[in-house]
Amino acid sequence: MQSLAEIQDGEPLYDSLCRNLQALIAGEQDWLVNTANCASLIYQLLPDLNWAGFYFLRSEQLVLGPFQGKPACMRIELGRGVCGTAAKEGRTIVVADVQEFPGHIACDAASRSEIVIPLFKGPRLLGVLDLDSPRKARFSDEDAVGLQALAEILIEGTSWHLLPQEA
Ligand code: SME
Repeated sequence: MQSLAEIQDGEPLYDSLCRNLQALIAGEQDWLVNTANCASLIYQLLPDLNWAGFYFLRSEQLVLGPFQGKPACMRIELGRGVCGTAAKEGRTIVVADVQEFPGHIACDAASRSEIVIPLFKGPRLLGVLDLDSPRKARFSDEDAVGLQALAEILIEGTSWHLLPQEA
């Protein structure tokens, strides 16, 4: 196996992330393994994060999945907080200042900005990818595009049929 999470000189950051994720999940289909390594990769390579991880749709709620950072809230109703809103509306949400987002769920008091990417396999909502930063306005459109590309690699390279959707 190549060394994990290596950046090549001059390579754009999201190119590095995508290349590393491709290498990490090559030959591995398990959603738990791949999302755990993806959360770690993001946390290791992207600067100024205090949380990076997944919530999965289960029985009309989002339940906490693999992540890096402080312990987080375990279940989020669809439509609640940034995660539940992104999942319900099926769109990426970038929040420059979490204190300005009505209903924001504060898992770590240090969080100042946030980005949430909904994860779809075709029409099926799998869950969301959530990143928090202790810095206001940390996430740009470039981050949204880069993280969507990363999510696409994860979704296409992973088997989701064993993802439990009820519990
Ligand atoms: N802030 C999120 C909750 C999840 S934590 O940030 C890890 C929200 O408002 O949905």
